[in-house]
Amino acid sequence: MNTRTLSCSRGKREQSIAIAARLIRKGELVAFPTETVYGLGANAFDPAALKKVYRVKGRPSDNPLIVHIWSHSQVALLADPIPLMFWVLADHFLPGPLTIVMRRSRSVPPNVSSGLSTIAIRIPSHPVARRLLRAANVPIAAPSANISGRPSPTSASHVLEDLRGTIAAVLDGGSSSIGVESTVLDITGRTPRILRPGGVSKEMIESVLHLRVANARMNVKHPASPGMKYRHYAPAAEVVVYEGEQRRAVVRAISNAVKRRKGERIGVMAEEEFRQLFPGAEFFSIGNRGVTGATRELYNGFRELDRRKVTTIYCQSFPERGLGRAFMNRLRKAAARDIRV
Ligand code: TXA
Ligand code: MG
Repeated sequence: MNTRTLSCSRGKREQSIAIAARLIRKGELVAFPTETVYGLGANAFDPAALKKVYRVKGRPSDNPLIVHIWSHSQVALLADPIPLMFWVLADHFLPGPLTIVMRRSRSVPPNVSSGLSTIAIRIPSHPVARRLLRAANVPIAAPSANISGRPSPTSASHVLEDLRGTIAAVLDGGSSSIGVESTVLDITGRTPRILRPGGVSKEMIESVLHLRVANARMNVKHPASPGMKYRHYAPAAEVVVYEGEQRRAVVRAISNAVKRRKGERIGVMAEEEFRQLFPGAEFFSIGNRGVTGATRELYNGFRELDRRKVTTIYCQSFPERGLGRAFMNRLRKAAARDIRV
């Protein structure tokens, strides 16, 4: 299959979105940009299209997909009952990087959520995603548009690296601004539970709900979310995380470790200001704007350093607050080793 790249530059955007919407309605797979990462979209009500999603990603069939919609009013098509909490969250955070798990409505085919009695719903804020959802006029099921286990794509070229030739098209809407997947929040119980940290933090949710929010614990036998039991987000190189209270001390420790491994092709991911400490390494800058910039560049860095054929990637860490929790969650899942400084 020839995968079309549909440009979203001014002038071409409307036509590209119309083509993509038509492909989705015909049961084809189209990757599209969202503010978090690129999604691999399929008509959520087309079982054959959903099957294809699992096949091209190599995704285990028990890991359910997130259903994307563009308007709050579509939630009633998918979830039943809709807890009051949903409307409070929607008021504050939607559209945006928050996915909400509720009871699945009986009118929705069970295979949308791998047979679970729940359904994960997301209203993305990216203008191209919103226009596509409107034009397709069907809910779009979309996992991240990567091959299972690889880092999620944050650009159309990342999508093509993994899925060229196996999907109908990718809408190229530039780089994703957040850079890691949405927060997944389960509101089926009395205490809302974060199944995956993301762009909307625990603190943000607690402040609007006036409730304590729990973090689901990692439990491989009985995972709160099927996605929690799989290894994720990993580049081919071995990732080593360096953690500590003092940013400079952390980066100095990385610099010492790199010096000891002369002759090897080592990758370093750190903030721009530390570049000069690593003349012998493949340096990838995660920006100079703290954790926001670093999160945007995290998966891009993994993919770029894999292309430069490094054997090990050393990465700087951030405090586990706000978006830092999402950054550290993804980094630890990718990492083989975690070193405390
Ligand atoms: O930002 C995102 O959420 C991106 C963009 C494309 O929207 N999508 C994404 O999808 O990250 P995916 O499939 O890569 O991750 C979906 C996660 C998985 O961990 C899955 O187990 C969980 O959401 N999930 C989906 N439906 C669920 C459900 N009914 N109950 C619990 N967890 C669910
Ligand atoms: Mg994924």
